Order: sequence, then C-alpha cells, then structure tokens
Amino acid sequence: MKLRKAKIADVEEMMSLINNNAEQGLMLPRSRNMLFENIREFMLAEEDGQIVGVSSLHILWSDLAEIRALAVDNNHRRQGIGTKIVKAIEEEALDLGCSRLFALTYQPEFFKSCGYEEVSKDQMPQKVWRECINCIKFPNCDEIAVSRII
Ligand SMILES: CC(C)(COP(=O)(O)OP(=O)(O)OC[C@H]1O[C@@H](n2cnc3c(N)ncnc32)[C@H](O)[C@@H]1OP(=O)(O)O)[C@@H](O)C(=O)NCCC(=O)NCCS
Repeated sequence: MKLRKAKIADVEEMMSLINNNAEQGLMLPRSRNMLFENIREFMLAEEDGQIVGVSSLHILWSDLAEIRALAVDNNHRRQGIGTKIVKAIEEEALDLGCSRLFALTYQPEFFKSCGYEEVSKDQMPQKVWRECINCIKFPNCDEIAVSRII
C-alpha cells in the first residue's frame, strides 16, 4: 500500500469510494465538481493500482484545519489504512505550519484511536460552519466533532 496525492484521473474512483459510503449514511456525499475543484487537497491510499482509501486536508485558518471525506474501501478496513492516511494528512498540515486538526464524523472511536478527543461543536469557531449550509443535513447536523493538537 502506498500513500500519494490525488490526480485528476483519480476523480471517478474517489467519487465512487466516497459515495458508496455516503449511500450507507456513513459520510456525506461529494460531487464530481467538488472533487475537481479541491483535488489538490486529497491524499490517497493505493494498493495494486486500486484506490483503497481517501481523505482531504482543508485549511481553514492560521491554526485550524479539517480532515474531510475520509473513507477506506470496505474490503480493506481494520488494516491500519485509515490511521496511515490521517498521519499523512497531519504531516502535511504540520509542513504547512498548522498544528490543530479537527473532523466532523460518525466514527469518533476511529479518531480517538488516532489521538483525537471529542469536543463540543459549540467550541468550534464560526468559520467551521460556513460550508454547512451546502450540506444535505443542514441544519440538523448529527456528526460528532473531534480535535487534536499535533
Ligand atoms: C472510519 C474508517 C475510515 C476507518 O478506516 P480503517 O482503515 O478501517 O481504520 P484503521 O484500521 O486504521 O483503524 C484503527 C483503529 O480505529 C478503531 N476503529 C476503526 N474502525 C472502527 C469502527 N468502525 N468502530 C470502532 N472503532 C473503529 C479501532 O480501534 C482500530 O484499531 P483495531 O483495528 O486495531 O481495533 C473506515 O471504517 C471507513 O471508511 N468508514 C466509512 C466512512 C467513514 O465513516 N468515514 C469517516 C468520516 S469522517
């Protein structure tokens, strides 16, 4: 398994990995447009030419970044791939000079295993909610906020 940055040619495979999980209610769906526009934010895990994991790093402020759209292929779970993607994203955030990461998730136990702690959504800066208006769940967000200083 290798980790690498996403390329434009990966978008269809990324979209099906993310949206298969979204259909099961495990995460929010992503459009092709969103993936193209934000392709430089995405990190992939690839095994034997197949994309088996995906996530993105979205910088929000001088010391605040979000881990978004994390998904590992069904047949490759519990092999440490999600953890490796999170670590790679953390390294990228640190390289950019950002040491506070957060995620909005339905899988707090996974993030806790990576060193994150659950935080009240009310504690998150207002800027975090700017894009929520585009979410299909708005205004009834049921995701859990987790955060870590790296
Ligand atoms: C959450 C997800 C990314 C985890 O990926 P993964 O590669 O299976 O995770 P890892 O193998 O690195 O797991 C590390 C640890 O996290 C915890 N963990 C992982 N998945 C878990 C789950 N479903 N429930 C509880 N704990 C979990 C375990 O402690 C695990 O260690 P263990 O396998 O030794 O017990 C993956 O299950 C997934 O894609 N889920 C669907 C989409 C999703 O929920 N994304 C998160 C949106 S932010």
